[in-house]
Formats: sequence, structure tokens, C-alpha cells
Amino acid sequence: MLYPVPAVMVSCKRPRERSNIITVAWAGTVCSDPAMVSISVRPQRYSHDIIEETGEFVINLVTEKLTRSCDWCGVRSGREYDKFREMKLTEYVSEFMDTPAIAESPVNIYCKVVKTDHLGSHDMFIGKVIGVTVDDSFMDDKGKFALEKCGLITYSHGEYYTLGKKLGKFGYSVRKSAVKSANKKNSESKSKKEPKNGQNKKKISEKRKVKQRKGHV
Ligand SMILES: Cc1cc2nc3c(=O)[nH]c(=O)nc-3n(C[C@H](O)[C@H](O)[C@H](O)COP(=O)(O)O)c2cc1C
Repeated sequence: MLYPVPAVMVSCKRPRERSNIITVAWAGTVCSDPAMVSISVRPQRYSHDIIEETGEFVINLVTEKLTRSCDWCGVRSGREYDKFREMKLTEYVSEFMDTPAIAESPVNIYCKVVKTDHLGSHDMFIGKVIGVTVDDSFMDDKGKFALEKCGLITYSHGEYYTLGKKLGKFGYSVRKSAVKSANKKNSESKSKKEPKNGQNKKKISEKRKVKQRKGHV
């Protein structure tokens, strides 16, 4: 129930074999310096052994245009299909490693596996980021990469979404003008929602349902 998350297309390749792509939702940033990310992959996946053996993978961010390919690569196996060919995607081989990135993806993150944790259903590969390539067309005049213009998607509870409207930016809650209006809003909503003798609290806890659900990735 920890949603939304990014759904990413992870490319991998074993020498003398065709390249493959696996869709991964259990992915995340785990360290800033050195930059490290994690992907959790079930041992049954065709890609699992490739990543384990080569010790490398590329995370390719997914745009609205790539969503269908992202889903398809997440329901078909590289054991049976050449996913790059089937989805008409282009392999981009960078200076960083033999594993190709997906050229149609605006951001490619090249990772070397530094640790593998066998957690249970999934093995978590922690990858040290050794390079990143981006689509130049999203670079602005000042050399800043406009990630917000890429049209990235998110994945929530089994469904894909585009991103909604911007609500603020890092630290906006403590900026002077914002604090004033936030305090005002808080005091307004507090007066409306104040529980009387814990009655509301009780109501809320009664409403909560225990939900157990098998993860589907
Ligand atoms: C949106 C989505 C997210 C997924 N996330 C994961 C994941 O985090 N870990 C995983 O092992 N499989 C995940 N899968 C399933 C694999 O992508 C799928 O089994 C794929 O066919 C494996 O490809 P392969 O056999 O070529 O490696 C996901 C599938 C979808 C559609």
C-alpha cells in the first residue's frame, strides 16, 4: 500500500545474448552520496539471473509515450520475446557499460550491483550509479534538465497515471509567506475537526479495515 511509486523499465544484457527489459515498480533511491538505487526482482524472472551474473543494469524512466511498452515488458518474458524489437525500442550503448539503455527514455541511470539482499519473494539489488544519460532536448538554456517536461508517469495500486498539478516545491512550507497562509489554513481546519471527548477518534478507528493483499509485482 506504499503508493504511488515510479514504474521503471530496467534494461539488462548478458554477453552474446539479446538485451532484455523488465518492468520494476519496487525501485527506489537509497543513498545520495555515493548515489545508489535499489531494484527488487523475483528470482523467477528471466532478468534476475542476467543482473546477478553481469552485476549491472540500467534504469530507464518511463514517459506517457512509453507506458504501453512499460506494461508489455512487465507481462511478457525475455525468455520468449525480444522486447526491444517487439516494442520497437532502440538500444543506446553508452560509454558506461555494455548493457544498453532505452534511447526513447529521457533519463537512463547506469548501475553496478554492490550488494544483493535475498529478502524473500524478491532479491533486492543495490546499484551504485556510475553514470546517467539524458535526452538533450529537455536541457534548458541554462543547462538545467527540465525533468518536469518529460511527461513521466507514476504507478499506483495496479494503475498507471500521469503526474497531476504542482502543489509546491522543496521547503515551501517554511518560507515566510507560505507559513502564514498554512498557519491560517491549519487553524481553520482545526476548529472544524476538533474531536469531542475522543468520539471522532473512535469513529475513525472503527472505519479502518484490516486489509491483507498479495502484492502483484
Ligand atoms: C507495473 C509493473 C511493475 C512490476 N514490478 C516488478 C518488480 O518490482 N519486481 C519484479 O520482480 N517484477 C515486477 N513486475 C513483473 C515483471 O516485470 C514481469 O514478470 C516481466 O515479465 C519479467 O520479465 P523477464 O522474465 O523478461 O525478466 C512488474 C510488472 C508490472 C507490469
